[in-house]
This record gives sequence, C-alpha cells and structure tokens, in this order.
Amino acid sequence: MNQSFLKDVDAGLSAEEKTLSSKYFYDEIGDQLFVQIMHMPEYYLTNAEFEIFSKQTDKIISSLGIKEGSYFELIELGAGDGTKTKELLKRLIANNFDFSYNPVDISEFALAGLKKDLQNEMPNLKVETQQGDYFKVLAALGKTEHPKVVLFLGSNLGNLTDDLAASFLEKLCDTLSYGDKLFLGVDQIKSADIVIPAYQDAQGITGKFNLNLLTRINKELGGNFDEDKFYHKAYYTQEEGIAKSYIISKEKQEVNIAALNKSFSFATEEKIHVEISRKYNDKIIEKILAGTNMEVTEKLTDEKEYFADYVISKK
Ligand code: AVI
Repeated sequence: MNQSFLKDVDAGLSAEEKTLSSKYFYDEIGDQLFVQIMHMPEYYLTNAEFEIFSKQTDKIISSLGIKEGSYFELIELGAGDGTKTKELLKRLIANNFDFSYNPVDISEFALAGLKKDLQNEMPNLKVETQQGDYFKVLAALGKTEHPKVVLFLGSNLGNLTDDLAASFLEKLCDTLSYGDKLFLGVDQIKSADIVIPAYQDAQGITGKFNLNLLTRINKELGGNFDEDKFYHKAYYTQEEGIAKSYIISKEKQEVNIAALNKSFSFATEEKIHVEISRKYNDKIIEKILAGTNMEVTEKLTDEKEYFADYVISKK
C-alpha cells in the first residue's frame, strides 16, 4: 500500500476545508485521461507550447548555449508522453549534438511508454529514465559533473503554490552549476473565457480526470466513494491568475475508507479542493526566482502569447 497516499488522504479529508492533492491524479487511468485532456481543443496549453517547440526549435537550441561536441544531460521533469520534447530531440540528433535524455516522471506507466516510443523512433538516443516525485529525484540529479539542461514544461510548476514553487526551484538550483539552464514552460495569465473551458471542458473529460481520484481511493485504499454522487467544477479570475479545481458532493453522505478504518461525512455542496493551476507573468516568475541564484535570460512565446518558455540560467 502507498503509505504517503494513505496519510495524505487521511489528512486531507479530515481537514476543516477538505483537500486532496492533484499529484495523485496520475495512476494508469489518470495518465490516459490526461493524454485526452492534452488533445482537447479547449486545452490550449499543449498546442501553444508545441508551437514553440516546432516553430522555434533552432532558437531554443541557441538559447540553451549548448555546444556541438561537448556532452550534456537533457533532463526532463514530468516528461509525460514527450510529444513536444521529441521536436527538440530530433533536431539535436540531426545536428549531431552529444547528449543523453533523462526523463523523470511520477508515473512509471508514462515513463515506460515514453522509453519504448523513443527506442522505436530514435534508436540511437541515449535514454535514462527515473521514476519519482520531483522533490525526491532532485538529489539524484546533482550527482554528475556534466553540463545540464533541465526541461520543466507544460506549466507543471503551476500545480504548486508559489511558496512551494520557489523552494522547489531553490533546491533545483542547488543541483546545477554555473551556466546550466532551466527551460521552464508556463501558462500566461489571460482572461477567464479562455482558461475556464480548459479546466471545465464540454465533453467532461476533465471531470472524469478529477473524479478518477475518488476511484483510485476506492481501488487502492478500500474506499466506497460513489463517483456519481460528486461533480467537478473549476474557478478562475484573471485578477488572481489561478485556476482552482474542486470535487463537490451532490448530497449529504458518508464515505468509508477501509484502509483507514474511518468514515468521512460530506454535506450537500461540500467541496474538496483538488488542484491549483497557476498562470504567470514575468513579474511572478521573477519573484519566484528571487531566492535562487538563477535569472531569466530569454523568453519564447507562441504567436498568441498564451504560453511562455523561459530560459533561466544559473549565475
Ligand atoms: C499537469 N498540469 C500542468 C495540468 C494543469 O493544467 O494544471 C493538469 C490539469 N488539470 C486539469 N487539466 C489539466
């Protein structure tokens, strides 16, 4: 049994304002649903960042300051299915760069799929995968002396509060050496009419993705949640710049979790907060980087300026 999942579910559902962490969305079904989300027309983030990777590949390479002939590690945190990164990998291979690709992901399913895929598509690419929580794998990253480029794409940073994001980037910075780069992809603050549908789509895929967390509790912790008695809702204002997702109880009910030997009561319309998806601007990024020894050296955006990839260099 996953003890941290058990502990976090207990703490989250026992709190005055119930919470469950979005990091537990990603089991085998959650991964598949997230791939569907990335293909939804409303989820503009993926297309916008893909546009940067496909149309500005050479600019990305020059902004990273990597040299032909000198070996470097290309580390990707939260690699997912690697669609965007493949654009960069292909160009690096075509231009004879000497590097290894080290994807890190919390999901072993995603990593296994990606590795198989890359072996088929780019048989000469050196791939070394690592499974784990970002915070846990950071320590392992600092072990080699090679120059490093760390990709952290897809606005994954946005699922952390600004405080956690800052401490995460501080720790990441400690594993890097002078000249190493962080390539950070984040969604930009924009109006609610664009953001809300991305988190509350017409087909209800995001709802399924969120509610799968209850099914995961049932499967792994012996819960008896009835998914049909809950619904998902997203909130966002441009002033705040943070999309927030909730699972809401349709009625007054009790849910038992066998592994905890405990029941939890839900009132009608009671919310469980499950996710934040922070949107950024340059000021917020600079504030989050303030405690680190890193600075923004370049910014690439898609044509609509929905999304930005910041090149951040270790000083
Ligand atoms: C993984 N992460 C960046 C996604 C996001 O946009 O916050 C997760 C997601 N949640 C709902 N839709 C997508």
